[in-house]
Amino acid sequence: MTDLFSLRDLKVTFATKRGTLNAVRGVTLHVAEGECLGIVGESGSGKTVMWRAAMGLLRGKRVTRGGSVTLNGTELLTMTAKEVRQLWGTQIAMVFQDPMTALNPVRRIGSQFSEALIKRLGMSKDDAAARTLELLRLVRMPEPERLVRKYPHQLSGGMRQRVMIAMAIACNPKVLLADEPTTALDVTVQAQVLELLSDLREKLGMAMVIVTHDLGIVAGHSDRIAVLYAGEVVELATTAALFANTRMPYTEALLNSIPKLTDTSGTRMRAIPGSPPDPVSVTTGCFFAPRCNYATDRCRNEHPELVDGGDGHLYRCFFPLGKGK
Ligand SMILES: Nc1ncnc2c1ncn2[C@@H]1O[C@H](COP(=O)(O)OP(=O)(O)OP(=O)(O)O)[C@@H](O)[C@H]1O
Ligand code: SF4
Ligand SMILES: [Mg+2]
Repeated sequence: MTDLFSLRDLKVTFATKRGTLNAVRGVTLHVAEGECLGIVGESGSGKTVMWRAAMGLLRGKRVTRGGSVTLNGTELLTMTAKEVRQLWGTQIAMVFQDPMTALNPVRRIGSQFSEALIKRLGMSKDDAAARTLELLRLVRMPEPERLVRKYPHQLSGGMRQRVMIAMAIACNPKVLLADEPTTALDVTVQAQVLELLSDLREKLGMAMVIVTHDLGIVAGHSDRIAVLYAGEVVELATTAALFANTRMPYTEALLNSIPKLTDTSGTRMRAIPGSPPDPVSVTTGCFFAPRCNYATDRCRNEHPELVDGGDGHLYRCFFPLGKGK
C-alpha cells in the first residue's frame, strides 16, 4: 500500500485572549490507499482541529498551521482556500458529527444532490437525478424516489447521516474523513452507519479516517488506530497490536473506560479520572503524568518522544506497558 494522505509534524495554534492555545502539537500520520485509520482521543484532544486544518478549513489571523499535509505528494497547507476547495469531494470528503451542518435545511434532498453533481462533475440535470437515486440506494436508503422530495428535518438522524455519506461519496473521493459520524445516533443506528462506511470503503476502494472518542466504536472497522492526547499522537499501531500489546497507560485507561457487556448501568463510556492539561499553559514532562498510575519523577520532568518499539508499534512513554512494567 502506498501513502495517499500524509500529515508531517502538523501543528495548529489559536491566538486566544488567554494566550496561545496549542491544539495540535506536531502530528505525523499517514493513510494508505484503501486503508481505514481510526483516530481516538478524549474531547479537546485536537481530533477535529487536526483534520479541519489538514483540509484547509481553518484559516484566519488567529490560526497558525505548521508542518506539512500532502495528498498524493501534493502539498495542501500552502494552497489557497480556492485551490484546496477544488479537491473537496473529488479527492477528499468529510462526514461530520451533525449532518444538519452540511445539509441546507430549506432545500429538498434531491435538489441539494443534483446541484452538487451538476456543479462538481458537470452532469446534466437528468444524469444528476439518476445518479442521486443510485447514490441513495448505495447508502441503503429505502424508497429513494420519495426521499428526494423531502427536506432534511423530515428525516431521522440516521437517515440524515446516510444522506450526508451519500453526498460525501458522490464524486468518488480517494479519502473519506468521518469526524464522530455516529455520536449523535443511538447504538443500533451507530453500528449500521459504521457497517455502511466499511462496506462503501471496500466497494469504492476509498481510504477512510474515522475520528471518535470511543475506542470500542472503531475497533472493528480500522486497520490501524492512532491514539491522540493533548494534541499529540501517543500510540499508533495496527488495531490488533493496540488491543493485544497496549503500550501506553493512556490507551490502557481508554480501554478500561469501554463498558463491559455485563455493565447494566446504561453508560456508554466511563470517564478517565482527571483531565488533560490546559492547552494554553506551558506543560513540562509527559502530558499524561498527572493522571497516570505509573508516573515517576522522570515523567514529570521530561517530555517523552514518540518511539518505535521495533515492530512499527509507536508509543510515547518512558515505561511502556508489557516491556518490564
Ligand atoms: N476556533 C477555535 N478557536 C480557539 N480554540 C479552538 C478552536 N477550535 C478548537 N479549539 C480548541 O482546540 C482544542 C482541540 O479542539 P478539537 O475540537 O479539535 O477537539 P476534539 O478532539 O475534536 O474534541 P471533541 O471530541 O469534543 O470533538 C480544544 O482545546 C478547543 O477548545
Ligand atoms: S511517560 Fe510516565 S507518566 Fe507518561 S504515560 Fe508513560 S509512565 Fe505514564
Ligand atoms: Mg471533535
